[in-house]
Amino acid sequence: MNGRAEEVLAGGAENRGAVVRVGDTVRRPQKPFSFAVHLLLQHLEAVGFEGAPRFLGIDDAGREVLDYIPGETVTATVPAWARRARTADSVARLLRDYHRAVSSFRWPSATPWDSSVEPPWAGGGLLCHNDPVRSNIVCRGGLAVALIDFDRAAPALPEWEIACAVRQWIPLRGEEDEHDPESAGQRTAARIRRFCDVYGLEGGSRLRVLDAIRDSEAASRVMLERRAAEGHPAYVRFLREGAADRIEARRLWLDRHAEALRDAMV
Ligand SMILES: Nc1ncnc2c1ncn2[C@@H]1O[C@H](COP(=O)(O)OP(=O)(O)OP(=O)(O)O)[C@@H](O)[C@H]1O
Ligand SMILES: [Mg+2]
Repeated sequence: MNGRAEEVLAGGAENRGAVVRVGDTVRRPQKPFSFAVHLLLQHLEAVGFEGAPRFLGIDDAGREVLDYIPGETVTATVPAWARRARTADSVARLLRDYHRAVSSFRWPSATPWDSSVEPPWAGGGLLCHNDPVRSNIVCRGGLAVALIDFDRAAPALPEWEIACAVRQWIPLRGEEDEHDPESAGQRTAARIRRFCDVYGLEGGSRLRVLDAIRDSEAASRVMLERRAAEGHPAYVRFLREGAADRIEARRLWLDRHAEALRDAMV
């Protein structure tokens, strides 16, 4: 490390405490599939995509070395700007541009990608990021500029990726809208539609995003409970702080507004 200071980058859960900044670089633990992620990052660099860190090599401690991307990520309390439509628009544009850049990426057939994408959304010819949550997108001035943390990258359908982003970047309303649930449903539906439009998703695919949102909510609950049961401290804490209840509240909300949501997508 040449004696250079390491600053722990807090915010993530999976690798909490183990992701550090050293100067203009980030060091992260490697996974069995990291070499495949490195091929992906090298492809993105080769095609000139600037919304991802460059892969710079492996350090003496065996960690991957990536560009540090200046900006901010939302890791705890969600600030007002992260709920705004202009921010969600910028996330939709970032995903659209990422999918364009990655569409020419071909990987060896036996490549061991992460396997957290649920059927029927897994597979296909597009190497999705699969985790475009608030802590994995660097923003500047309230606009998304880069995806980081490609640990869940794997072939998947774009609807899954879009659903994951929608769940995080568009507030799916809960109890607070009980006084006017119908217009709340329509407002949120219009925002999801807008996200799909900015990304460039057509009719049938927009409807599939709704299914993917439901599946993604369910999958995140299963993952949360499994990781907590395994004793992973970050997930134990999420569970204690009511994360499963919030997922359940969103599921009920989605059920209640299913019709408004479908109407807005067609
Ligand atoms: N390349 C980067 N450039 C700038 N900041 C970064 C970079 N990589 C990580 N960070 C910062 O460190 C935080 C944690 O990093 P990272 O997402 O890699 O951790 P993680 O524990 O793997 O996350 P997760 O829980 O999503 O799996 C990010 O939220 C971000 O604030
Ligand atoms: Mg992360």
